[in-house]
Amino acid sequence: VPIEYTTSLEGVEPEHLKGFFEGWPSAPSTDRHLDVLKGSYCVVLARETNSPQVIGFANALSDGVLYAFVPLLEVLPEHRGRGIGTALVRRLLAELDDFYAVDLMCDPELQPFYDRFGMHRSVGMVIRRP
Ligand SMILES: CC(C)(COP(=O)(O)OP(=O)(O)OC[C@H]1O[C@@H](n2cnc3c(N)ncnc32)[C@H](O)[C@@H]1OP(=O)(O)O)[C@@H](O)C(=O)NCCC(=O)NCCS
Repeated sequence: VPIEYTTSLEGVEPEHLKGFFEGWPSAPSTDRHLDVLKGSYCVVLARETNSPQVIGFANALSDGVLYAFVPLLEVLPEHRGRGIGTALVRRLLAELDDFYAVDLMCDPELQPFYDRFGMHRSVGMVIRRP
């Protein structure tokens, strides 16, 4: 089935967001997930043609001038390894083309995945409150 990508949240309901936040100790509800997307500076969603179900997404936060930050990227487990994650990041970075900085945090094993987009390895500090 062909995959379609959109930066619009039009028609997206909580029930279209099932199955995400795999492995999180307390995963946000689908309602909260939709709130996250609505509160984002921009989003990219992946869906199979003619299905409302979201199978992958990425979002960005931004000050609208200099900095954008990519907090979340996930493809549903059964759809991984088909290039959807790569396509989501490429589309999100295209949306963020004009910013001085685009930052994201990831585990070391994911750095090779992000290398392909011309991103540079860095270090950071975080607070997490699960
Ligand atoms: C990371 C993720 C979005 C990739 O999605 P995907 O649709 O499988 O990505 P692609 O099919 O475009 O795969 C691209 C490459 O990344 C590699 N890759 C994917 N996930 C990886 C991981 N967890 N660790 C190391 N490499 C990974 C794949 O092996 C593939 O390599 P190849 O092109 O050389 O074969 C997906 O694995 C996922 O949702 N993981 C759980 C959430 C997560 O870790 N998100 C990132 C937070 S920083």
